[in-house]
Amino acid sequence: MEEKTFAITSSSPEETEKFAVKIGRLINSPALILLKGELGTGKTLMVQGIAESLGYKSEITSPTFNIIKEYFAEEEIIHMDLYRLNHSDELLEIGFEDYLDRDAVILIEWPEIALSLIPANFIYIELIKESSLKRKIIVRGEGDISKQLIERLSKNADSWN
Ligand SMILES: Nc1ncnc2c1ncn2[C@@H]1O[C@H](COP(=O)(O)OP(=O)(O)O)[C@@H](O)[C@H]1O
Ligand SMILES: [Mg+2]
Repeated sequence: MEEKTFAITSSSPEETEKFAVKIGRLINSPALILLKGELGTGKTLMVQGIAESLGYKSEITSPTFNIIKEYFAEEEIIHMDLYRLNHSDELLEIGFEDYLDRDAVILIEWPEIALSLIPANFIYIELIKESSLKRKIIVRGEGDISKQLIERLSKNADSWN
């Protein structure tokens, strides 16, 4: 991983969503965004904010049971939750690699099991629960897409509150 990162502390769900909206404005498809964090840290909320800023207005829930959901907005959005998968072979069964080729914004909750199949150009967002309402959100990644996002976030650091 490249060393460059961008981190904020969010003090509320609204603040996290606002940050996600910001990220959504700074990316275009194709984009691959991995969301790491324990249950209840705000991964799905980040997906909601990113999707919202791409023009998708309905409520989003974690696709824990169906694993993959697609939303159609200004960009195509593919939302995965790999929590229930136990082995990377199961990714092949769901056609994981074909999804990666799509011209879409792909958001993956619980991406750990898929890391060996992921191309070297992605955004990696880690959420850490610091208290009931506080989350540390760290943006890092590999390749031009994350480099560009981190540069853009750093330039606009004052303007989302
Ligand atoms: N600062 C915060 N950022 C994100 N979520 C927060 C924050 N504070 C409290 N929450 C709560 O944590 C939960 C996050 O849920 P969700 O996004 O579904 O998490 P995950 O997908 O990581 O399991 C929500 O109930 C939300 O209201
Ligand atoms: Mg979730």
